[in-house]
Amino acid sequence: MHVLHMNTGEGETSYAKNSQLQKKIISVGSSMVESAIFSIMLEVQPKSMGVADLGCSSGPNSLTAVSKIIHTVNVVSQQIGLSVPELRVSLNDLPGNDFNDVFKSLPELYNKMKKDYGIEDCYVWGLPGSFYGSLFPAQSLHFVHSSSSLHWLSQVPLGLKPKAGTHLNKEKLYLSKSSSMTVVRAYQQQFHEDFSLFLKSRAKEMVSKGRMVLSFLGRRSPNPCADEACYQWELLGNALMSLTLDGLLEKEKIDAFNAPYYAPSLEEVAREVEYDGSFVVDGAETFEIEWDDGDKSDFNISSGYRVAKTIRAVVEPMLESHFDLGTELMDELFRRYTKIIDDCLSKTKLKYINLVISFMRNE
Ligand SMILES: C[S@@+](CC[C@H](N)C(=O)[O-])C[C@H]1O[C@@H](n2cnc3c(N)ncnc32)[C@H](O)[C@@H]1O
Repeated sequence: MHVLHMNTGEGETSYAKNSQLQKKIISVGSSMVESAIFSIMLEVQPKSMGVADLGCSSGPNSLTAVSKIIHTVNVVSQQIGLSVPELRVSLNDLPGNDFNDVFKSLPELYNKMKKDYGIEDCYVWGLPGSFYGSLFPAQSLHFVHSSSSLHWLSQVPLGLKPKAGTHLNKEKLYLSKSSSMTVVRAYQQQFHEDFSLFLKSRAKEMVSKGRMVLSFLGRRSPNPCADEACYQWELLGNALMSLTLDGLLEKEKIDAFNAPYYAPSLEEVAREVEYDGSFVVDGAETFEIEWDDGDKSDFNISSGYRVAKTIRAVVEPMLESHFDLGTELMDELFRRYTKIIDDCLSKTKLKYINLVISFMRNE
């Protein structure tokens, strides 16, 4: 949790400049957000509505989801003849997030709310802390949203601690086709612990019949080691391994790294929901998102370059903290990663699987 944050600022490698893919992911979940808000307004009719966006990050996407939510509350209220509720909106992320950057965009959001919808009763604040644990007062939330965040675990799986000085997941950064059952179980166990704590925490904080729409990377295959769930890590591991072959990085450092990440299947999520018992799943969809979903009009920029930049903006702080590569070697790593991705994309289209799931808080 101390090293997990996106690349800050507005430079070439920043998350602000390289988060179009995540923006697309927010938009594919928007119809589920609309129906969840419709249900809340119809069934709960709150006078004061608690809304939270978990893992808001900073940059152009951090207010995208909440702007859409506020807009939808306004439209739905008019459709069903209710006055727009007072809106209490929390933007949550880990304490290392650049909340000051987010706050700078708030006046623009308030102006838009006032000008376009006449909404004045809208209060937005930042809330630093992990969503794997308690964040809000009991029964204060009506709608919880999160996009591109819940595939991050709270920590590297505890079951991956080296045994007798030997690393368990050598040469790999995450699960892969060659992972042993011990490694697979360690990741599954950490997902179970984290997701069950997430549900337990939100269950306390949400009102009865409140809704939650969560969108994150996952998989269709029952196999956690399927390419669709792991391949970006596999190729990044290959790029790091090529640095060790050239004597630029110790192999032991790669052996010791394990990403705090897990791409679950819908079935695994449903199992956690059943185990927790406080929510029902009232909608679930899987979407394929192309690795290179960006603007392909500039022929001087390869697909691999765009994909590698999108991934770099997310994982660089974590890699820097573990591998201590420095700027030049980090640039070299991502040049090699770009080439590896371009080679793969010349043979096949690579796609992420994104899950969007809508939950209702039980009575
Ligand atoms: C890829 S960004 C997504 C940002 C934004 N929602 C979007 O769609 O562009 C993932 C964010 O989740 C945050 N995050 C990861 N684990 C978290 C946790 N346990 N609690 C709160 N935020 C977390 C990260 O710090 C990061 O800002």
